[in-house]
Amino acid sequence: MNIILLGPPGAGKGTQAKILQDRYGVAQIATGDMLRAEVKAGTELGRAAKAVMESGALVSDEIIIGMLRNRLSQPDCRNGFILDGFPRTVPQAQALDTMLAEQKFDLDAVILLKVDEAVLVERISGRFTCAHCGAGYHDKFHPTGVAGVCDKCGSHDFVRRPDDKAEVVKDRLVAYNAQTAPILPYYEQKGRLHVVDGMAAMDQVTAEIEGALRRAGVAAPATA
Ligand code: AP5
Repeated sequence: MNIILLGPPGAGKGTQAKILQDRYGVAQIATGDMLRAEVKAGTELGRAAKAVMESGALVSDEIIIGMLRNRLSQPDCRNGFILDGFPRTVPQAQALDTMLAEQKFDLDAVILLKVDEAVLVERISGRFTCAHCGAGYHDKFHPTGVAGVCDKCGSHDFVRRPDDKAEVVKDRLVAYNAQTAPILPYYEQKGRLHVVDGMAAMDQVTAEIEGALRRAGVAAPATA
């Protein structure tokens, strides 16, 4: 299964990609996570990306396409992948077509998670992550079982993303509407686009995505 998860910041792409990764046994390729790892490691790429990300703008197509080309050539991608956060511009979508053809990958489906803007802001502003194991939580929608303790690893340390501040979120939404939304007709014309109601509860969103994947001809996971 090779799919793209599309949607504005906070639509639930990362949440759903992690669930689908486990269920279908494919790789989650999250360009935002890859960039944050570069920033954390202090690489040249990370230094170039940091200020751009913290301003809410998009990192250059050149950097992102190079990073993605390298990632798609790794062996685990042969079992399938979920692209989470890529492509985000028309040139990225066109470059992806070239990469898929080069690597002989078929694209099964492009899933768009639709969520109202007011809900996106609420979701992003309440989001936090375990600093130790990376498990994701939300103050209101997905709190830890015991306050201040990670459900998965028991750590007491949590972090919030610098680009989740309200003023930066607004700029991320502007970038989405200006640069990413225009790729939707690109995939609609190819007959690949499936729109899912991302406002529903998390397990309902997963069920809707799985329904869309079945309609696109993707075999159900063994655990379904
Ligand atoms: P990136 O990390 O990709 O961020 P994003 O697209 O802005 O998406 P988010 O991670 O904020 O949201 P999400 O849709 O994954 O939602 P989540 O599942 O966490 O990119 C960050 C930056 O990197 C960009 O701004 C850019 O600078 C750069 N970048 C990355 N890729 C790039 C590219 N291709 N080109 C150029 N630049 C690039 O959910 C959000 C919250 O809501 C969570 O707390 C979750 O628990 C909760 N939630 C999820 N689903 C539900 C639900 N159904 N009901 C209730 N709550 C829910």
